[in-house]
Amino acid sequence: KKNLPLANKKVLVTAGPTYEAIDPVRFIGNHSSGKMGFAIADELAAKGADVTLIAGPTAQKSTFKNIRRIDVVSAADMLRECLIYFPSSNGCIMCAAVADYTPAEVAPQKIKKQEGSLTIELKKTTDILKTLGQQKQQGQVLVGFALETENEEQHAIGKLQNKNLDAIVLNSLNDAGAGFKSDTNKITIIDSSLNKTAFDLKDKNEVAKDICAKFISLLNL
Ligand code: C5P
Repeated sequence: KKNLPLANKKVLVTAGPTYEAIDPVRFIGNHSSGKMGFAIADELAAKGADVTLIAGPTAQKSTFKNIRRIDVVSAADMLRECLIYFPSSNGCIMCAAVADYTPAEVAPQKIKKQEGSLTIELKKTTDILKTLGQQKQQGQVLVGFALETENEEQHAIGKLQNKNLDAIVLNSLNDAGAGFKSDTNKITIIDSSLNKTAFDLKDKNEVAKDICAKFISLLNL
């Protein structure tokens, strides 16, 4: 059992970008590859967890049989699935790069080229992680990510507290080899007691092990 500390634990993971439709052929997206989230799902599964992986559009694959993968497209889809699976989970690690804004209206037909400029009105999406933080029950562990470009730690701690998280994983776009598309990442984990651990640049599979070890310790296992 020692090598399967997450046996009988249900963990929710979100990964990848979201796509927000503008019209039937266009969307607003971002550069998230899904690599970090899939690596985390694999590591949790390897430690025995029953993983639900809610993934935005991504080419990543996961092979563990104890991963239930749910593919979604938009932030609204991802929110809906998270609200279904979070209440029965022991914890959640939210890696997805969720859109903060989505078109106020989706054009029913392909928008035609026209003279001059085009303005698309955007409305705010629901912050999924913050919503789960508000619902969190005693014993549930909630971990978020913060990808920052300036005042990194200050912003990460702000999100940790505002979203009622147990820990936040900070990665900075200022670090070479960290962030979106690379196979490596460089993180700092800050927990709700403001304990801070900075890790070296490493392969995302190894980063996933560090994050899962922290997650396991927060579950008091
Ligand atoms: O506030 P910010 O978007 O930087 O927070 C990042 C964290 O919040 C990530 O864990 C991300 O998955 C989550 N998030 C979310 N729903 C949103 C925006 C961000 O769950 N609409």
